[in-house]
Amino acid sequence: MAINAPEGTRDLLPDEALFWERFKGTAAEVFGRYGYLPIDTPIIEQTELFVRGIGEATDVVSKEMFTAISGENLRRWLEEGKAPKAKGRLSLRPEGTAGTVRAVVQHDLVPQGAAPAKLMYAGPMFRAERPQKGRQRQFNQIGVECLGAEEPTIDAEAIIMLMRFYEKVGIPRASMRLLLNSMGCEQCRPPYRELVKAYMDEHAAELCETCMTRAELNPLRAFDCKNETCATVMADAPKITDHLCEGCREHYDAVKALLDGAGIAYEEDPALVRGLDYYTRTVFEVQATDGMGSQNAIGGGGRYDKLAEEVGGRPTPGLGFALGFERCVLALEAAGVELPRAQRCDLFVACVDDGVRAHAFTLVQQCRDAGYICEMDHQHRSLKSQFKLADKLGAARVAVLGPDELARGQVTLRDMASHEEFPVALDSVAAELSQALL
Ligand code: HAM
Repeated sequence: MAINAPEGTRDLLPDEALFWERFKGTAAEVFGRYGYLPIDTPIIEQTELFVRGIGEATDVVSKEMFTAISGENLRRWLEEGKAPKAKGRLSLRPEGTAGTVRAVVQHDLVPQGAAPAKLMYAGPMFRAERPQKGRQRQFNQIGVECLGAEEPTIDAEAIIMLMRFYEKVGIPRASMRLLLNSMGCEQCRPPYRELVKAYMDEHAAELCETCMTRAELNPLRAFDCKNETCATVMADAPKITDHLCEGCREHYDAVKALLDGAGIAYEEDPALVRGLDYYTRTVFEVQATDGMGSQNAIGGGGRYDKLAEEVGGRPTPGLGFALGFERCVLALEAAGVELPRAQRCDLFVACVDDGVRAHAFTLVQQCRDAGYICEMDHQHRSLKSQFKLADKLGAARVAVLGPDELARGQVTLRDMASHEEFPVALDSVAAELSQALL
């Protein structure tokens, strides 16, 4: 029986893989203008990093992590019953923030008094969720993290930059909603959590069992519950934005004023709590409005001013976001935007017979060396089927080379769009391509 890709994973076939490369290129271009530089951290980290960083009680850590035990440790565990020490327990990263902050702390990228470190990354993340449309077990994220600055300008510029990116890749503004909230800080959130818990206790009979179990650990997660009755009950729960301390209130107002000034439309959503425990103050999420089903968040992020300390560093404020590539592709398709197909071939050299093959081979190499995407037939096809192949490859031009052409030191160059044909000297084909492309 043939072996397929594991459930919840997808192959990015050439068209989509090429789009992923372009997508990353656009991110590097847009985010680069805001001073973000690339960082590449390991795909596996110590499990402990995610437990401390993201939070033990979150779904991501408690239910969705792929945890690996390396060879020798696994043998000792299975054969000798010796569970591996913390350092021997590794997990595939479910997101990129914890690893990036770990790297910032480990390499002291924000020494005291230094300018903020602005970092961006792109790559696969892993969550053992139940697969469905827009929800995979391995998916690709592009993310940014800015460490070392607590000013609201950092929050606002990151949100502006994210919206610019979506527009640049072609997601229409009208098919996106930007949701904004503040999660408060270590001063104002604990009393607010108690208020929510008390409210939930009052409505215990109406709330689902999961919400009530969560109420003990983190009552705010009830705002995320998809159960309709829970959503109705939680809509009347106390709102965090009515209970922010003065510092958090000022910060939130400043972020909103900066977004207003930049003409970025947003909706305040006091129920936006996000599923990761590290957030403080600003949180935001971008949802695609068309054809996405329940997995409609195409990106999200927020501030995490305590995370560096959680992973053993000195106090270092931080803010970032991540966006999901596969969900952006779904949003583009739902909005009817055609994904750009790569121009795969500038020139196809077609041989009239096998006698000219060696010359065709040389011509193809010369044109490639001159910087053009060139191809020829490698399977002794007829001239007709070579034209079909050229068409399939999207060749802009076909150079026909036969014994007659060769005797004259020429090819017959055909423009595949206009069907125009004309002779070109063998040693001028590359020059002719450069003229045509101009
Ligand atoms: P997140 O909201 O968990 O945040 O994920 C960010 C984005 O990744 C989501 O909006 C979605 O587009 C995509 N995504 C998440 N899970 C899946 C999945 N199972 N399948 C497909 N796409 C998915 C974070 O990961 C934070 N680290 C963001 C952040 C950075 N906050 C601060 N800095």
